[in-house]
Parts: sequence; structure tokens; C-alpha cells
Amino acid sequence: MNAPIYLDYAATTPVDPRVAEVMARHLTLDGIFANPASRSHMPGWQAEQVVEGARRQVADLIGADPREIVWTSGATEADNLALIGFMRANRARGGHLITSTIEHKAVIDTARALEAEGFEVTWLEPGHDGRITPAHLAAAMRDDTVLVSLMAVNNELGTINDLAALSAVVHARDAIFHVDAAQAVGRIPLDVIDLGIDLMSLSGHKVYGPKGVGALYVKRSPDIRLEALIHGGGHERGMRSGTLPTHQIAGMGEAFALAEREGEADQARIAALAERFLAGLDDLEGIHRNTDVTVAVPNIVNLSFDGVDGESLLMALRGIAVSTGSACNSASVEPSYVLRGIGVPRSRALTALRFSFGRFTTEAEIDAAVAEIRHAITTLRG
Ligand SMILES: Cc1ncc(COP(=O)(O)O)c(C=O)c1O
Repeated sequence: MNAPIYLDYAATTPVDPRVAEVMARHLTLDGIFANPASRSHMPGWQAEQVVEGARRQVADLIGADPREIVWTSGATEADNLALIGFMRANRARGGHLITSTIEHKAVIDTARALEAEGFEVTWLEPGHDGRITPAHLAAAMRDDTVLVSLMAVNNELGTINDLAALSAVVHARDAIFHVDAAQAVGRIPLDVIDLGIDLMSLSGHKVYGPKGVGALYVKRSPDIRLEALIHGGGHERGMRSGTLPTHQIAGMGEAFALAEREGEADQARIAALAERFLAGLDDLEGIHRNTDVTVAVPNIVNLSFDGVDGESLLMALRGIAVSTGSACNSASVEPSYVLRGIGVPRSRALTALRFSFGRFTTEAEIDAAVAEIRHAITTLRG
């Protein structure tokens, strides 16, 4: 059997071969593999240089200073560090956090853990377009609100929040703005100064880098202090201890440098592929697009299909690797909380599939996927 056509780039991307090549140079004895914290020998200094070079590559993509990048194991840990680390360190300033009902579980479950610790959380509901409005946020802000956490690009819908407008609301009330940008890197411009972002979570594996590495951007400001969650050798200026994974970090740096150089061209090509995909299904009745395309990235296409059962559809599409809602929930038969959160009826949410395209998607793959979907829908409806 042929390998399925991979249309699940929002769950994870394959590592770009250029990234893999850089990583391979940082693993074995003949490469730069040492512990970057080893200050007593040349291999350690070389590894430190690699880590600092990658820190600059990540910082450059988001308009930050390299000293503002804290390495983590991924965006999940970065979200935990931002929310828990900031709320705990600022308990005296107030205990109120604002987030939304359609964030990634890395934010939702972290906010729930903070509620259990005694912090108060306001859960904003998005509009039908999947976005949080500045007016809605302004109405939820309180004197004791210290942190607002909202995502840049939604992982199921692809919708883009108006980060500049939201950060203006947050800062008007002297609070701090955290953004989960795991799905946004390389897809939309992300300048932390222009957008007024104070804390931002990043992931390596959503942008053709390796899994198991990410970062938190922490704006250098006396107002922004974080309590560490992981204690140990005091790495990353005490914010995140643990030996830095030189090869992972070198890979993430290269991936971000490629995103800076090629992200815009990737997106333009992917937008054309998404149009080709949708045009191929256009004459089929009863297909609903769950995303308001005027405010979304083109690489994520979320569709529901009338007259078929979601599980049967997935089974019939075994030649295509796609996701029902969020990959993290794929064991569950509950409809996606994100789709329900924007008002998609339960029955329609149950047949939703997320198709996500990437750097290596080809026109031939799109055409083959379209043919398979057309065949599956017609057969199942028949
Ligand atoms: C929006 C968003 N935040 C956080 C994460 C988690 O990222 P990581 O896998 O790097 O922990 C993901 C990935 O599923 C995501 O899409």
C-alpha cells in the first residue's frame, strides 16, 4: 500500500531536509554536540555558540532581542510557563486571567489548573468567525486582570486574531499580553513590537523543525517576571533549567531562518493549492466550510460533509492523512470544542475534517486527494 497523502501539516510538519542536515551536524563526536553549559572546554563553547546563533535566528523572525528567547520543550511548555509562571509571580498584583474557550488545550488546561490554585479566569467566547473582538475583551478587563492569553492563529480553523487591536486593549489596562503563536510562525507576520506582544509561545515542529523543542519570548521589562516551573541548574536565566538540546535548538533555529526567507512564498503557493482543492470539490452538494476565509490563513481548510458519518468518512479516506478537529483529541468521538465554540451545530461538527497543507504539498497530491474525497462522499451517500 502506498503511503497516504499527508494533509495534516497543522498537527505537525515533516522536518525540512535542510533542517535535518543541520541537526545531524550536532549529534555525533565529529560534530558540535557538547553541553552548551560546559564552560571549561572548547567543545562546550562551540555548542554555546550554536545555541546562541539559533536564539538569534528565532528572535529575528519575530523582531525580538535574542536575550528575550527562553528555550522550552515546545509550545505546550511555553504556554505553561507563560500562564503559571506569570500568574504565580504576580499574585500580589491581582489574580485575574482572561483567555478564550477555543484556545489550544495547552492554554485551556493550564488556565483550569490555575483556577484550581485559586486564580480567577474569564473565558471569552469567540464570534462565529472564530475571532475575539477587542470590544468583548475590553468588557472583560478588570482592575485585577494581570494577564490576557489569546492565540494568534487557531489550530483547527486557521482564523487569525487581530493581535494589534487586542494588545491595545490589554495595555490600556496595564495588563500583560501572552500569545500562543504555534500555528502562526511562517504563516503570518509576527513582529512582537508592532503587535505589542509581551509573551509569545513558539514551537519547532509546526514550521518544519523538530518536535520536542520550542521557546517562550519574554519581553525584557521590569513588569514581566516569571516564576520557573522547572528547577535545576539555573539555565535560561533561571526561567527554565535543564541541559539545552543542542541539535534540537540548532534545528529550530534553521527552521525559523527558512521561515523568515521562504514563509511568504510558501503561503502564496499553498493558497493556490487550497483554491485548487476547494475548486475540485465545488460542484458537490452539502459541503460546508467551517472557517470564515476572510480572516484565516490559507493552509488550514476545515470542512463538514452532509449526509455522511464522520467516522465512516475517515475510514473511507484512508489514502489521505487528515485530522478530525484537533489531532490531540482524535481518540475522542466528541465533536470539536472549537467548532462547537463558534456555533457549528453538533451534527455538522461531527463530520468535520481539517485538511492542512504545507511546504511539500504538490498539485498532484491535491488532485489525488480531491478524487478520493469525491469517491468516498459519493459512495457513502449512495
Ligand atoms: C495553537 C497550538 N498551541 C500549542 C500547541 C502545542 O505545541 P507543542 O506540540 O510544541 O507542545 C499546538 C500544537 O498542537 C498548537 O497548535
